[in-house]
Order: sequence, then structure tokens, then C-alpha cells
Amino acid sequence: MMYVSLRQLRTFEAVARHRSFSRAAEELHVTQPTVSKQIRLLSEEVGLALLEQIGKKIFLTEAGEHLYATCGDWLEAWGRFEQTIADLKGVKKGRLRIAAVTTTKYFMPRLLGPFCAQYPGIDISLEVINRDRLLERLARNQDDIYVMGVPPDGMDIECEPFLDNSLVVLAPASHKLAHLGRTVRFAEIAREDFLVRERGSGTRLTMERLFEERGIPLRVRMELGSNEAIKQAVVGGLGLAVLSDSTIGDDHLRNEVCILDVEGFPIRRSWYLVRSKEKRPSVVASAFLEFLRAHVNLFAHHIRPGRPSA
Ligand code: PGA
Repeated sequence: MMYVSLRQLRTFEAVARHRSFSRAAEELHVTQPTVSKQIRLLSEEVGLALLEQIGKKIFLTEAGEHLYATCGDWLEAWGRFEQTIADLKGVKKGRLRIAAVTTTKYFMPRLLGPFCAQYPGIDISLEVINRDRLLERLARNQDDIYVMGVPPDGMDIECEPFLDNSLVVLAPASHKLAHLGRTVRFAEIAREDFLVRERGSGTRLTMERLFEERGIPLRVRMELGSNEAIKQAVVGGLGLAVLSDSTIGDDHLRNEVCILDVEGFPIRRSWYLVRSKEKRPSVVASAFLEFLRAHVNLFAHHIRPGRPSA
């Protein structure tokens, strides 16, 4: 009989999924030595090595592969149990796991404030990650609710648009295209250099699709891993950017950047609340969805108090 703890399994599952101790530690909000210790204790109990490190890369051993597959089932079953208990207790107590794409960091934490004030007993975790990592979590059914701008095709999900998410073209305030006195043609911005988000980002995906649809090559000057870095690079004159207008709001850069009036822009999209159809929504998740639906107009007003335009 092996004695393993749920904590060890959670730790192993995260290391195996990320193939990284540090990313697992980051996700679980613990230190890397804690992760190593949990994995060591688990291997000792199993009696076989579970992971193998070759150079900087981590691989699963055969025992590790079997355990990884089993972990998925265990953790899902435990999640269902936790949900049943929370449902028995009603909306007052429970857990809500939300995963949201990077760009939602400009409004998601704000939306949680009034919800937490109404339901102080609910323990909320919000993972803010890019679209690719969010899709991995969705495929593994790790969260109750996902928030993203480009829901995937071919997955068994329910998507509900809940907030506007327009893509705009951002330029330094002094840029020549900002002072033409007319709408800028798409061909004119296509001659400019662009600053783009990392691969795996929903913003990047939408932007690439846009240029592809028009059969125009996208001139990438630089790839940056965050919307903030992109805005600073725009101010620095390194290029133009296509970003969600959620990233602008009441920004401190509003005098230094402007939104160009470009043909075809803003590209009107939505932020979606996404749920896996396989997972019955918990009482807490349903309460959160209801709360968002009821207050969405108020949020929209706070999120976009005004925008800098050319
Ligand atoms: P991102 O997603 O933050 O990964 O770019 C934004 C979006 O999906 O619109």
C-alpha cells in the first residue's frame, strides 16, 4: 500500500505538465525546494524514479508517464468531490478557479473586487496566462471559468460574449500617420514596423490572421512578452502595435500614445466567458457568472473611461 498525499500528486502533475520545477512552483505559489521535496517523497513512496533530468530538460520515466495519466483522473475526481461539498454548503463558501488571458489583467481583478465583497467566504484563484497556456488548462479541465478573446474551435465548450474587446492600432502621439487629417489606409500601416506579442498570445493570433486575410506580410520589428512592454516600445518609437483597447483605459501613457484612425479598425470583438461542457458548473461558478451578467454594464463603464485618439 502506498501512502501519497494529494499535495504530492498536485505538485507532480504540475511539474509533469510544465516539464519544469520552477514553473510548477510558480503556479502552485510555493518555493522550488518545496516542489523538489514533494517529488522526492513521492518517488520514494512509489519506489521508482518518476522524472529524469537530461541537461536542462525534464523527462517523465515510464513510471512517471503512468502516474501522470493517473493523476489527471484523481485530481478531476477530487475536484468533483470538492465541488459537491461546496454545493452542499451553498454559495457562501467554496472555491472558484478562473483562468484568464494576459490582456484581461486590466479588468478581471477589478471585476473580482465587488464579487468578493458580496461573497467573502469564496476562495478565488485567478491564473493570468497567455492563450496557449490557457488552452492547455482548458483541455485538462483545471478551472471553473476561462476568459479569453479567441475561443478555440473543436473543443466541447460553452462561450458567452460578455464585454467588448476591440483591437486598435497604437502609435506614438507624434507619429506622422496620426496627423494626416483623414482615415489611414490599411496599406499605409502595412508599410510600418510592428511590435507584436509572443507566439501563443491571442492578440498576436488575431493580428496575424488579419494580415493573412489581406494577403499582406506583417513587418515584425520586435516580439515582446507583455502588453505593457509593447506600449513602452511604441512610446520609444520602435514601431506600431495592434492591441486590445482594454490595455489602454485610463493609462498613464495616454499623452504619449494615440489610437490611429485606420480603415477596418477598431476590430470589434468580445471577451468571452468560456466553460467546458464536460464540467457541471458549481454553485459558486454559477453565482459568479450571474454576478458578471448583472453588473457587466457597470464594469464596461469603469474599464473604458476614455481613450487617447489621434
Ligand atoms: P492574449 O489574449 O492576452 O493571450 O494576447 C488576448 C485575446 O485573446 O484577445
